[in-house]
Amino acid sequence: MTLTSRLTALLLQPWAKPALWLICAIPMAALLAAAATDNLGANPAEKLVQETGEWALRWLWATLAITPLRTLLSQPALLRFRRPLGVTAFLYAAIHFLAYAWLDKGWVMDDIFKDIVKRNFILVGVLALLLMTPLALTSFNRAIRALGGRRWQMLHRLVYVVALLALLHFFWKKAGKNDFGEVSVYAGILAALLGWRFGRWIKLV
Ligand code: HEM
Repeated sequence: MTLTSRLTALLLQPWAKPALWLICAIPMAALLAAAATDNLGANPAEKLVQETGEWALRWLWATLAITPLRTLLSQPALLRFRRPLGVTAFLYAAIHFLAYAWLDKGWVMDDIFKDIVKRNFILVGVLALLLMTPLALTSFNRAIRALGGRRWQMLHRLVYVVALLALLHFFWKKAGKNDFGEVSVYAGILAALLGWRFGRWIKLV
């Protein structure tokens, strides 16, 4: 048995998807445990918003990595992990927003709207989350059948816009502190993921 076929067999195990869901829940469980034991540092609210935002970005990048990895590793079976990763990215982004609305703004809608109008980075974050919502809502088999494969694919191309908006949100947040280290790493990975797709597209046309 070659390494490739061993990996395929592993990816096709019935427990592989539940195991991925479990892995996806670990950062959230760790954050909740840290919150419950008062281990989130001097500013727990800020830490919670920051961490959920960063995890949303990581899961989104992981979702975008599936297609290149499938091809580069000759593992079509990886496709079954794209949906859980995308839904996880949305759930972390939604929790990130809820943490902000609750811990930062105390659910005062007026303050949230003022923040959206006043701070560009918040506006871009809201746009990213709004665009992620139809993707998450149509990530189930019934929705895919109802939309038809082509229309579903067109709609899900929005994920590239979401990724660019999320990166801009992160960039603007960090630009205020002249701190570009981490943002550059995320930008570099996204450039590689989108560059790979662009390279394939050029070969096709
Ligand atoms: C309604 C939508 C959103 C709102 C209101 C929002 C709000 C915020 C706020 C207030 C912060 C600053 C936290 C702090 O340092 O005090 C932040 C940071 C961040 N957000 Fe969002 N966000 C939204 C959507 C998103 C989405 C969709 C993503 C990613 C997919 C995201 C990723 C991040 C990241 C990576 C950070 C930086 C964390 C850090 O400083 O390490 N956000 N967001």
